[in-house]
Amino acid sequence: MRRVSNALIVLLNALNCSSFVVLVFAALLMLGRPQMVAAQGAATSATPYKDPAVATEKRVADLLSRMTLEEKATMLAGSGWMESAPIERLGIPAIKMADGPMGVRAWYGSSAITNAANAATVVTATSFPAGETMAATWDPDLVQREGVVIGQEVKALGRDMILGPTVNINRQPLWGRNFEGYGEDPYLTSRLAVAYVRGVQSEGVIPSVKHFAANNEEYERHRIDEQIDERTLHEIYLPAFKAAVEEADAWTVMSAYNLVNGLHCGENALLLNDVLRKEFGFKGFVVSDWGSTYSTAATVNAGMDLEMPGGQAMQKFIARPETLAQGSGAGWLTADKVLTAVKAGEITEATLDRNVERILRVIFVSGLFDHPHVATGIVDTPEQRAVALQGATEGIVLLKNSGALLPLAAKKIHSIAVIGPNAGVARTGGGGSSLVRPKQAITPEEGVRAAAGADLKVTYALGVGMEGENPEQDGTEARAKLRKEAVDAAAQSDVAIVVVGRYPKLEAESFDVATMDLPAGQDELIEAVEAANPRTIVVLNTGDPVTMTRWIDKTPALLFMGYGGQEGGKALANILFGTANPSGKLPVTMPKHFEDSPAYGHYPGEHLKVNYAEGIYVGYRYFDTKKVEPQFPFGFGLSYTTFEYKDLEVHGSRIGSKEPAATVTVKNTGSRAGAEVVELYIHDGHSKIDRPEHELKGFRRVELKPGESKQVEFWLSRQDFSYWSPEKKGWVAEPGSFEVQVGGSSRAIELKAPLELK
Ligand code: BGC
Repeated sequence: MRRVSNALIVLLNALNCSSFVVLVFAALLMLGRPQMVAAQGAATSATPYKDPAVATEKRVADLLSRMTLEEKATMLAGSGWMESAPIERLGIPAIKMADGPMGVRAWYGSSAITNAANAATVVTATSFPAGETMAATWDPDLVQREGVVIGQEVKALGRDMILGPTVNINRQPLWGRNFEGYGEDPYLTSRLAVAYVRGVQSEGVIPSVKHFAANNEEYERHRIDEQIDERTLHEIYLPAFKAAVEEADAWTVMSAYNLVNGLHCGENALLLNDVLRKEFGFKGFVVSDWGSTYSTAATVNAGMDLEMPGGQAMQKFIARPETLAQGSGAGWLTADKVLTAVKAGEITEATLDRNVERILRVIFVSGLFDHPHVATGIVDTPEQRAVALQGATEGIVLLKNSGALLPLAAKKIHSIAVIGPNAGVARTGGGGSSLVRPKQAITPEEGVRAAAGADLKVTYALGVGMEGENPEQDGTEARAKLRKEAVDAAAQSDVAIVVVGRYPKLEAESFDVATMDLPAGQDELIEAVEAANPRTIVVLNTGDPVTMTRWIDKTPALLFMGYGGQEGGKALANILFGTANPSGKLPVTMPKHFEDSPAYGHYPGEHLKVNYAEGIYVGYRYFDTKKVEPQFPFGFGLSYTTFEYKDLEVHGSRIGSKEPAATVTVKNTGSRAGAEVVELYIHDGHSKIDRPEHELKGFRRVELKPGESKQVEFWLSRQDFSYWSPEKKGWVAEPGSFEVQVGGSSRAIELKAPLELK
């Protein structure tokens, strides 16, 4: 049945079928459903686990008691590339997974296979903006809605679980997956992780919070051993996992490839049992990253529950030369290996039981056991697309706008040149498992043409080929010709828009970005276009910060669009023409040079070890404390309007209470409606230990009409004043004087007020 429905989805996708046809198919599939449910057997008092009215823990215990040792052992490894093992005798379904997190990706094999242009099986779904772009919205409500619609698409495609969100911290600018995560700050990342998980789970779909823990570089990702002190782990790299578990009750967590302090994450009992389960109270199951299992007993005993992939897919995976070359682990939790370890006394039956229980619990709690998802194939609906567009629009950050070049006054200009290797192609995301195939994606050029209308002349020029994409564009002559076309187009137009950045072969999972510099020829292109037309707008379409020092001083207007998913081009046009007012703020500090990054000198490591020597001084915690001038600070982003902050009031006595501990009034002092993200930082003025200059502990995105004021409220808890004490093995809030700071970026603190913590 499942195979039939999956095959139909692929067929429908290929035919690009109308919703009507899809609905007819869906109805036919539904007709098959009663028999399927009946085949599982009706619930009777003799089989309490089948009865949805019975409490989950009782169902789990009852079902476990009916399983043979062999069946239990079978459940610890997948049955395919993206499926857990079903136990048909008892009606235990396979959990059908799909990558994420930026929408639903094909589940038929590794990214290399499903990304290939000639992939045998193509699945299309809405391509949402990258995590970093969603983070630039600072809008948890929107991220929660994204979780909801992604959950709907997961079900519509007949899957049960989405492998996301990615909540690893952007430690340094070269991590190949920076675009997937929510930036450099644990508080912002936590808020968005909670929102995404809540959204997905509200649809009865299983998310997987990844990668636990500290997957902050791709370099030697199977073998790199990260030396991270306990305080840094707790303050920087673990909070998002903690929040997703404690606040959103996340059903699964994915263990990372790397080692932390000498142990692979999947064998790390300290991380999995002590921190995740005992400290955070995690009740779900831990799934391995694909091929990140390197032992049998040590893995099971450490609390890693489900090895992926499995079955035949695993056999093929193991046979790949890359798998071996990369040191990838695989095939350690097969039933025979687990049984041998149990029989040898290396794994106790009780441990095996706990492990299986955790998988069963999620199958019940998510509703999967009682309501198997029935594929309808209906994806990319107007609602889903609207969320993608809103994310892409709110996620664009206006970094510079001298002389108010933006928004473009369509009535005053007559011609626009749209230039660059990312102008005529929709670069929706970075490469690897997160890249979703959309049904359609809008390029910046298409977005601009559509918004420009008939009266405005739009000229396109490539300007420079994307490094490594097309060898024919790389020769000296070809380059000169392309550059000249761009310069001519810019010189003959009222305004030039240069869209530069990377593409999935330069910025992706499984390797780090080679340099913070833009790909070959792009800096020169910007300089040449700026020389030809002083009214040049540079647009950065990349997931990592880039070096801008060569041209930034001469650039009048600069936008960071990140990776906007399928609607990126339309979102960009909305911002360029002022249909939308920019409100995005950077979720990362943009250093001037890679050498300024706090991790410089401690990355990527030597002899397969990397020392996180900068400790808690990640991102603005470093730049603001050590007074290093960034190119653009954390939390920064301009608007087409202006805001004024006033009347900051703080009440130490309200910390931890139901009343807001801080209030501030924000006014839109310009002539356009706009949204300001109000950021709240806490400065510790008295600590006995080393603490950063300040830390983000609250933010609100506020929509304001021209002239309108709103009071913004912040609730604070003792946790917001705490640091992790390795001596006390816990969080400590030292009573004394703190300062509450509010403003529009970590470097634009508008108001401060002292606060006494009792
Ligand atoms: C990635 C995961 C992904 C998994 C399955 C791994 O290579 O690290 O994020 O979910 O593959 O595709």
